[in-house]
Amino acid sequence: MMRNLSNVLLLLIISLSSCLMVFGWDNGLARTPPMGWLSWMRFTCEIDCNTYPDECINEKLYKDMIDRIVDDGYLQAGYQYVNIDDCWMAMDRDPKTSRLIANETRFPSGIKALAEYAHSKNVLLGIYEDIGTLTCAKYPGTYYQNKDHTFIDAETFSEWKIDSVKVDGCYADPKKFNITYVEYSKALSQVEHKILYGCSWPFFKADFSENDYKLIRKSCNLWRQFGDIVDSYQSVKWIIDMMGMHNERFIRYHGPGDMLIIGNNGLSYEQSKTQMAFWCMWSVPLLMSNDLRSIRPEMKEILLNKELIAIDQDPLGIMASLVIQKSNWQTQVWTKKLSPMNNNELNPWAILYFNGHQLGPDSYMSYKLSSLIPELNQTISYDVHDLFNSNDSYLGTLKPNQQLELLVPTAGSVRLVKLIPKI
Ligand SMILES: *[C@@H]1O[C@H](CO)[C@@H](O)[C@H](O)[C@H]1NC(C)=O
Ligand SMILES: *[C@@H]1O[C@H](CO)[C@@H](O)[C@H](O)[C@H]1NC(C)=O
Ligand SMILES: *[C@@H]1O[C@H](CO)[C@@H](O)[C@H](O)[C@H]1NC(C)=O
Ligand SMILES: *[C@@H]1O[C@H](CO)[C@@H](O)[C@H](O)[C@H]1NC(C)=O
Repeated sequence: MMRNLSNVLLLLIISLSSCLMVFGWDNGLARTPPMGWLSWMRFTCEIDCNTYPDECINEKLYKDMIDRIVDDGYLQAGYQYVNIDDCWMAMDRDPKTSRLIANETRFPSGIKALAEYAHSKNVLLGIYEDIGTLTCAKYPGTYYQNKDHTFIDAETFSEWKIDSVKVDGCYADPKKFNITYVEYSKALSQVEHKILYGCSWPFFKADFSENDYKLIRKSCNLWRQFGDIVDSYQSVKWIIDMMGMHNERFIRYHGPGDMLIIGNNGLSYEQSKTQMAFWCMWSVPLLMSNDLRSIRPEMKEILLNKELIAIDQDPLGIMASLVIQKSNWQTQVWTKKLSPMNNNELNPWAILYFNGHQLGPDSYMSYKLSSLIPELNQTISYDVHDLFNSNDSYLGTLKPNQQLELLVPTAGSVRLVKLIPKI
């Protein structure tokens, strides 16, 4: 999908709950970053079900994932959406009603039945459309044959009880996005079933500053900033650096995210922890794109890490700040303010150390706490907990004027700790 700009897709989520801030489209959805599963990165547009009976885009694939989400503990951990991506449709709209229809050989029971199946298990079902004449893989778009189907599609998705729609931006004129994407939002607000609305609006303009983020934020629950992520450390690293470079801009609109590729072939164990840690520090959607039927146990454990998920879903929803960047982005430190525990007003913090060096031994990184987080309360101490070692997480107690020293493995690894104010 629009691989011309980059290989990485990011969704900007705009809508976390806090009474102090105004977030994205206020339809009651996406108050915290949505969590779930999405087919694109892993299964793309594979429609040859003879050669790939278990991997092609059909109802069996989504039913299998719904089952795994429920039976393997993902739903309980917060992963609630299973999202269909491109290539689910027939090559034409219904000639009489102009409605979208699913490919009948691959979705013999239809999308409505799939949504019912998901809902019977407490899972939410997401779907995919495009604001242009065609989708990125050339299936019928919203403006198929240059006619506007915005309202009829919203109606169809509502009747099917779809819970989320990702609206892509291929085969469309980006100059009209301030009309077409806004109209889509209006259509969704008028139908009976509540539908989370993800836009690809800003991604299709070359220059961030050309985007009317105020309007985007008002219209969409989520938005996408860049191209698709692929199954590699390089792709993840590129996002991390982009997030660092645009940290100040993104922090204002709230941060990008995108498919978690953990559990595939491209990331090592340490690099998988790295992706999870960064995504959670940014408070962005946690959408896995992997095969949950064959995922390795240690990767599953990363995805189900309760401490990390709590960082992602923190009610303050503040995106982490880049505070140290050295050695051409190979050394990074990020900090994130968390909402106070209990009734006291002191905020816990999360601190991430990143070591991207690919040569030499694991290295000690050491920084004075107050130099990383000037607003720490100087009069109190903080307990330091390792969020990737839940069985034995306590590392020590530090005053703000003391050093936080951690041994960080090489080759794109992180250490992630939480500072808990000690009262
Ligand atoms: C449904 O998908 C199959 C490939 O799995 C394709 O051969 C067929 O033409 C599609 N049917 C329609 C109506 O688009
Ligand atoms: C939409 O954006 C274009 C520039 O790309 C501008 O000329 C036009 O006035 C905008 N329309 C609305 C309704 O905001
Ligand atoms: C620091 O913590 C102490 C003890 O809880 C509290 O009395 C004081 O108000 C805090 N100072 C600031 C600046 O928050
Ligand atoms: C933590 O303890 C559980 C149960 O005792 C064990 O299964 C798991 O492997 C341990 N995890 C680590 C990271 O040591």
